[in-house]
Amino acid sequence: MAYLKTLVVYYSRSGTTRKIAEALSEALNANIEEIVEANGRAGFFGYVRSLVEAIQKNPSAIAQSKSDLSSYDRVVIGTPVWAWSVSSPVRAYLMANKEHLPEVAFFCTLGGKGSESVFGQMQSLAGKAPLAVYAVTAGEVTSARYGAGLAAFAKALEPSVSAA
Ligand SMILES: Cc1cc2nc3c(=O)[nH]c(=O)nc-3n(C[C@H](O)[C@H](O)[C@H](O)COP(=O)(O)O)c2cc1C
Repeated sequence: MAYLKTLVVYYSRSGTTRKIAEALSEALNANIEEIVEANGRAGFFGYVRSLVEAIQKNPSAIAQSKSDLSSYDRVVIGTPVWAWSVSSPVRAYLMANKEHLPEVAFFCTLGGKGSESVFGQMQSLAGKAPLAVYAVTAGEVTSARYGAGLAAFAKALEPSVSAA
């Protein structure tokens, strides 16, 4: 029996997606990598730029990934929902790494609406269907009510072991 090697990759502007990414990395016994951008997007102007990039479906400038995807069996990719779209840094990551992705699973954090269109966009950017998806609201994250949903997502990614 050999463990499936899993990487959790995420972008987070204000910490919500990071919190879920960290909990998932623990639940899945996975490595974790944050998508790093060339420019910050704090404050009102950062908000507006995020909105415009998402609506125009533009990728942002991100640093090259530090992880060698060829050494993983699956990658779990997380994004905040921006204007019913995948965030521009995660769009950039999927575009840059499409050819090297192993099996994928997706998660998103959101105010309340847009997860289905985001998962559809991620699937077409990745060029493959996800093993599982998981959407969680910022309200659930803030009030720590995400445990059951997160556990169900982790369970959907079982078996965590594969026949050797
Ligand atoms: C530019 C922008 C656009 C957003 N658009 C949506 C949206 O269309 N639907 C939604 O439910 N939440 C939307 N939100 C809320 C975020 O998806 C939510 O707060 C998310 O958990 C933030 O994740 P983060 O803290 O990891 O950046 C938007 C937030 C921002 C900054």
